[in-house]
Amino acid sequence: MKTTFLFVTALALASCAFAFDPSPLQDFCVAINNTNVFVNGKLCEDPKFATPEDFFFSVKEGNTSNSLGSKVTPVAVNEILGLNTLGISLARIDFAPRGLNPPHTHPRATEIFIVLEGTLYVGFLTSNPQNRLITKVLNKGDVFVFPIGLIHFQLNVGYGNAVAIGGLSSQNPGVITIANVVFGSNPKISSDVLTKAFQVDNNIVDNLQKQFWYDNN
Ligand SMILES: *[C@@H]1O[C@H](CO)[C@@H](O)[C@H](O)[C@H]1NC(C)=O
Ligand SMILES: *[C@@H]1O[C@H](CO)[C@@H](O)[C@H](O)[C@H]1NC(C)=O
Repeated sequence: MKTTFLFVTALALASCAFAFDPSPLQDFCVAINNTNVFVNGKLCEDPKFATPEDFFFSVKEGNTSNSLGSKVTPVAVNEILGLNTLGISLARIDFAPRGLNPPHTHPRATEIFIVLEGTLYVGFLTSNPQNRLITKVLNKGDVFVFPIGLIHFQLNVGYGNAVAIGGLSSQNPGVITIANVVFGSNPKISSDVLTKAFQVDNNIVDNLQKQFWYDNN
């Protein structure tokens, strides 16, 4: 009886999926930037070789001259190798007037977002079956939260440029931009799938699949 219970508990624990980055088991684990070997995270270099540069990055203003009028500059583990295993990162988002950071999700992170300059209309969507839209207009100094995994967006509704910083609860939050992945996938999703899913005809799907879906990240 007791053995069965332990066995079931062990099974339950083994099948647990964590939505957050695991905690570090040492002070830090500066990543070896080796793109050929993959573990859950990145391999660590010997801590005695760590340098200040492993914990440093300088963020430039993003170039917003593109079809979306926005640019995301991620500062995650690929930019700061010292973020490996620490469960945190950030992004700077620049917006031209009317610039949009289009609907997207971070599969591994909640985002806490602060406006440094300008006015943004932001929002996120809740899961089925409610699909509620939760929105707000943010001004300089305002902070908003986009919960992990939920689709969200930001649109510059002010007269000038806007700048914001998003803090993210993963060293590697990931980004899935809805329009890009659905209509710009490689290879393309069969139009049989998209016509039915979006309840539109083939011409509309063809047209959407022919667009160039700019990736602002
Ligand atoms: C910004 O991007 C545009 C389009 O790619 C390019 O023509 C322009 O030179 C860039 N501006 C700067 C300052 O890099
Ligand atoms: C890590 O490697 C990637 C891919 O080669 C590169 O883009 C990135 O700049 C590197 N990061 C650092 C901090 O060296």
